[in-house]
Amino acid sequence: MIKILGIESSCDETGAAVVTEKKEILSNVVYSQIAEHKSFGGVVPELAARAHLERIDVVVKKALEDAKLEPSELTAVAGTCGPGLIGGLIVGSIFAKTIAMAAGIPFIAANHIEAHALSVRLTEDVNFPYLLLLASGANCQWVVVRSCDRFEAIGKTVDDSVGEAFDKVAKLLGWGYPGGPIVEKMSRLGDGDRFSLPRPMCRKDSLNFSFAGLKTAVKIALKKCETEQDKIDLCASFQKAIVDVMVYKMKRALEVCRDKNVELSAVAISGGVAANKPMRAALQNVCDERGLRFCVPPISLCTDNGAMIAWLGAEKFQSCRRDDLRFAPRPRWPFGAKAE
Ligand code: KG4
Repeated sequence: MIKILGIESSCDETGAAVVTEKKEILSNVVYSQIAEHKSFGGVVPELAARAHLERIDVVVKKALEDAKLEPSELTAVAGTCGPGLIGGLIVGSIFAKTIAMAAGIPFIAANHIEAHALSVRLTEDVNFPYLLLLASGANCQWVVVRSCDRFEAIGKTVDDSVGEAFDKVAKLLGWGYPGGPIVEKMSRLGDGDRFSLPRPMCRKDSLNFSFAGLKTAVKIALKKCETEQDKIDLCASFQKAIVDVMVYKMKRALEVCRDKNVELSAVAISGGVAANKPMRAALQNVCDERGLRFCVPPISLCTDNGAMIAWLGAEKFQSCRRDDLRFAPRPRWPFGAKAE
């Protein structure tokens, strides 16, 4: 059986996991740095790098212990090499390479976005091609996943990611970090129709997103808020605007796939924002209306984690991918581009 250790350290989660090619998750350990970054209202790269360095040995050791494996029993090690914050990428990739070298097993350089895109196949039997909405703190894009090596980005944000928009609006409202879960919780208490906010780029014939203007609209509307309930209604109106944008764009993305004659086996969503229940329900609805399968990995696999890196490793290992130990981590690593 193929057993792959995956190590994730591209942003503010230190993760390590072991998975098999049979989709068994033998271990999945995540250390979240939220506490370290909370008081700054966002991720501080230098603090993130230090926290990865302090934790990575403990996290990897626990992942191996939980899986009841010695490094020599692993088939290969996959480490995130980009895109992401360079300090964390250096820590994680060197750790992964060192284990590979010491155990004499192959190393696979993992592209973090490709790992998110493939993660749905770890928990569901989804065949290629499928349409993916990657909605996280660092990314927001539509991708047609054609194989474990072929990814076609058909639309992406031109400014902030959707997770960033949630985080910035929560910060504006004075509610802390990370913003997504707080915005979702507070929105349940508010009237989403109270404030008229823009639905950016919904009249343009494009699958790209833009969230910076929506954030500015919230900032302007906030000046008129006098009570806490006003703020809660503004928050609910913001979330409703985001959900409307996603629904509009998903309908357009499905039309684009149809026009390209892509026979989708499913539509999937990944990244931290996939945790948002109103968004999931609305997107599920779009798929149900069209008789399409809609897949969302469990929340623990939507946010950054080592299991998705290990699974990418399992997919790539089986398609004969191996990387050189000299492979340098890269803060920018275009989706689908070769590792060389
Ligand atoms: O994928 P992820 O863990 O990592 C990064 O890309 O950094 O995504 C984190 C993002 C944050 O912006 C967070 O606010 C957002 O996901 N998020 C949510 C929810 N839970 C997390 N956004 C909306 N609703 C949620 N329930």
